[in-house]
Amino acid sequence: AAAPASWDKPLQGKVAVVTGAARGIGATIAEVLARDGAHVIAADIPAAGDALSATANKVGGTALPLDVTAADAGTKLAEHVLERHGGVDIIVNNAGITRDKLLANMDDARWSSVIGVNLIAPQKLVDDLVEAGALREGGSVIDVSSIAGIAGNRGQTNYGTSKAGVIGLVDAYAPILAEKKITINAVAPGFIETAMTAAIPLATREVGRRISSLQQGGQTVDVAETVAYFANPASSAVTGNVVRVCGQSML
Ligand code: NAI
Repeated sequence: AAAPASWDKPLQGKVAVVTGAARGIGATIAEVLARDGAHVIAADIPAAGDALSATANKVGGTALPLDVTAADAGTKLAEHVLERHGGVDIIVNNAGITRDKLLANMDDARWSSVIGVNLIAPQKLVDDLVEAGALREGGSVIDVSSIAGIAGNRGQTNYGTSKAGVIGLVDAYAPILAEKKITINAVAPGFIETAMTAAIPLATREVGRRISSLQQGGQTVDVAETVAYFANPASSAVTGNVVRVCGQSML
């Protein structure tokens, strides 16, 4: 890759969309991409309301209420970026949910909702943006997978399957997007301290921290900096990768 025009602001002039940006990892990704100079469109479900506006205001970006599972999510997003910015350079598919249950008690609703948000939506969003000609050459797609998609996790068959699928997406799309000089990579966080993991029972949470070689949970910024690396045009030769964030998993 060519060196960026500015080492301080490597994403200057770039437009980035971050889904699930109202809180947690997504909110920090929005901050880090904005720090690097990108205009950030912070997207989240309409119910995220004030939290979403807070992220957008903090980063000097735009709040976009967008349920990624809506049938028209991709076309709506394409329309938004084409009208306002002439396109988009960086897509971070971060929105995700868990609906944990031991396999014996797993039900269809838990399967389909988790696969819908975590796997189908990221695939469709990219497809719709490409089809609309909204994803610009030189851009990056970054999908948030999980260590559960690599190593599996008890009670998370639906979630682990969705996150493994995301790695499949990266493998499948890397050569296709390369034709347009767009990279696609995944980050696979281990246990990160957010509202999502705070909802886990204390004893399980402790296990989550201890199965990392670091013996502790990671912070949202650990994931966000990895995303920023993939978004940086200076890493344009890096595609089709999965980077684990938060120590070596000792599962
Ligand atoms: P979180 O629950 O704190 O935040 C997720 C955000 O996604 C929320 O603001 C939520 O409103 C939004 N969202 C959910 N469904 C959506 C939809 N249909 N459309 C648009 N937005 C939607 O979760 P956290 O911890 O920040 O996780 C972010 C991503 O990182 C998720 O994909 C998660 O699976 C992944 N991850 C998290 C780990 C952790 O330890 N916290 C570990 C590995 C992966």
